[in-house]
Amino acid sequence: VATIVMTGGTSGFGKISSDRLAATPGTRLLLGGRSQGGGSAQVLPLDLARLASVRMFADAVLKRLDGAAIDALILNAGLALDTNTQRTEDGFETTFAVNHLGQYLLLRLLLPRLAHGARVVLTSSGTHDPAQGTILPVPKHASAQRLARPETDNEADSDPKVGGGRAYTSSKLCNVLTAQALRAEPEAAAKHLRVVAYDPGPTPGTGLSRHRSLGIRAVWKILGSPVGRLIPKFSSREAAGKALADLALGTIVPPPDQVYAKLRRGTIVWGPPSELARDADLADALWRESAPLVGLVRSAP
Ligand SMILES: NC(=O)c1ccc[n+]([C@@H]2O[C@H](COP(=O)([O-])OP(=O)(O)OC[C@H]3O[C@@H](n4cnc5c(N)ncnc54)[C@H](OP(=O)(O)O)[C@@H]3O)[C@@H](O)[C@H]2O)c1
Repeated sequence: VATIVMTGGTSGFGKISSDRLAATPGTRLLLGGRSQGGGSAQVLPLDLARLASVRMFADAVLKRLDGAAIDALILNAGLALDTNTQRTEDGFETTFAVNHLGQYLLLRLLLPRLAHGARVVLTSSGTHDPAQGTILPVPKHASAQRLARPETDNEADSDPKVGGGRAYTSSKLCNVLTAQALRAEPEAAAKHLRVVAYDPGPTPGTGLSRHRSLGIRAVWKILGSPVGRLIPKFSSREAAGKALADLALGTIVPPPDQVYAKLRRGTIVWGPPSELARDADLADALWRESAPLVGLVRSAP
């Protein structure tokens, strides 16, 4: 039996993936989430906004593994807020905390239990890449300290709404950098992990707009209806969910040295992520600077 651990499988296209994975013979799915989500898989409690909850979820997963290894880890959870003013109980900007720090901690806690050749898929977004020309403000940097505490960032946006958009795209840059850093980790290399950062393409109709204004929520819903299907640059929830499941099951195999998978017109296309996302030093710095923030090592004096 192949064991798959997943975040973000209770809503949006992730729910389509988790239903698919749960129905795949020979797989056991361990889902983490804040709600049961109404799908077929059992959901273990996980709130990525709370580091204590991430640790409890990791413990619950390890207990259920009962000595077995994890064959695939899917880090798909994510949220988009209207501003960058919210803080978690750990004191971090909430978008960065949920989209990067919580999942980084989970990855680090589960890494020793990943099987040889295990697959790790982190859901990023094309919005991290200025070359994609999306409407959101593009990332300026990937400094964990400054993204966690924007009040200490001298490059921070004065408009909280612009800051909210940039917090999202920066966190999605961090997802790609985390994939790059993981590939460079000696433990991951020794295990021949297959690591992918996944951009589903714009996929309207999911719950991602739930914290946004009424107007944005309405447009998101309309674009997610059959009307949106007429716009070729949009991915359907079905296609985005199927591709994520296929990446985790290994039905879609990354070509050698490719880490970034984009879904375009229903097909996975491999290619480079943004310039910042290709910076190995930046990836290494993010990996190292995130550790003290999540309590894995003591911060430097
Ligand atoms: N839709 C798009 O256009 C698009 C494009 C590019 C990338 N993405 C990325 O795709 C992923 C899935 O997004 P979606 O569009 O399907 O949105 P969605 O319907 O809102 O799904 C988000 C998932 O993340 C989970 N989540 C959010 N906050 C959490 C928390 N604090 N703790 C635990 N789980 C949490 C949600 O679980 P709950 O049930 O607990 O809320 C849900 O399962 C995200 O990473 C998003 O950034 C989306």
